[in-house]
Amino acid sequence: MNRREAIKQMGLIAGGIMLSAMPVSLSSCSKMKKRIILYYTATGNSLYVARQLADDNTELLSIPQLIKENRYDIEADEIGLVYPVYGHMPPGLVWKYLEKSNLKAPYKFAVATYGNRKCNAVEILDDIARKNGKTFDYIATIVMVDNWLPNFDMNEQIKIDKRIPENLTRIKSELAEQMLWHEPVTEEERQIHNDFMQQSGRSAPFKQRSEEEFVIHDNCVKCGICTHVCPKGNYAFTSEGIKTHGDCDFCFACIQNCPQKAIGFSRITEVNPNARYRNEHISVMDIKRANDQSPLM
Ligand SMILES: Cc1cc2nc3c(=O)[nH]c(=O)nc-3n(C[C@H](O)[C@H](O)[C@H](O)COP(=O)(O)O)c2cc1C
Ligand code: SF4
Ligand code: SF4
Repeated sequence: MNRREAIKQMGLIAGGIMLSAMPVSLSSCSKMKKRIILYYTATGNSLYVARQLADDNTELLSIPQLIKENRYDIEADEIGLVYPVYGHMPPGLVWKYLEKSNLKAPYKFAVATYGNRKCNAVEILDDIARKNGKTFDYIATIVMVDNWLPNFDMNEQIKIDKRIPENLTRIKSELAEQMLWHEPVTEEERQIHNDFMQQSGRSAPFKQRSEEEFVIHDNCVKCGICTHVCPKGNYAFTSEGIKTHGDCDFCFACIQNCPQKAIGFSRITEVNPNARYRNEHISVMDIKRANDQSPLM
């Protein structure tokens, strides 16, 4: 073999090494992909889903904390949004974040958690996003325990098999492929939502006043949990005990996470006032970290 042939062969070998190394370097590149998941949660379902969709290189950011910190510019390779539907719509703070934020990513996805009836939640989110200059490449829903206390007994809800692991596995693999897809909506689902909006006389999103909706009973032990889990910071210690006051997302973090079941509705009759819910994988500390509106140190 002359010198020229030897150099050529070395080049081929080196090229071969590079080629065989390439899939490794490409796959390590894709592992390096930075995913940020924005979430909102009151009873932990959406935080649980967000955690399940996270890998080692994912950052989970709570929307109430981002709003508190005035952080509206988010940039990553992938940005996800996980939130609960309220009347098939996003909660007020999620809505606000969609209006004000600047989400920069080549791939954006959203997963809406719901309990019983999702209707056209996918289209509602898509519409809000588009009106605010955003597009989601993928939007899906996942059914979880329904934390809507007026209609559901939490003790019964937790017994229902909603095939959560199977649905999470499917969503995870669709996201791994960066699937471009919006879950389809039927005409009947659109109609049910329109009827709901008309009958409830609601203007989207849910906007209540916590002093009108909630009452604190005498069995309150002043543990202070409600002062930390409310994403609107509506609970405070006063000389007369715990009081609530302010614009409310109606998320139920306060009523569901009170360990004494000392918070009740003022004007809604509950199916079972003795049953409360928090996702079994999520602690009250997780909800506090997500929602606490105490002033920044
Ligand atoms: C005010 C309110 C309205 C809700 N509206 C709906 C709804 O329209 N359809 C539905 O299926 N679930 C509804 N739910 C149930 C939640 O979407 C569901 O339980 C969600 O997974 C809770 O998420 P979280 O645990 O992260 O807070 C509602 C819950 C609340 C508190
Ligand atoms: S969480 Fe319940 S018991 Fe604790 S301070 Fe609030 S109302 Fe009272
Ligand atoms: S007062 Fe209760 S329902 Fe209203 S935003 Fe706060 S935690 Fe949610």
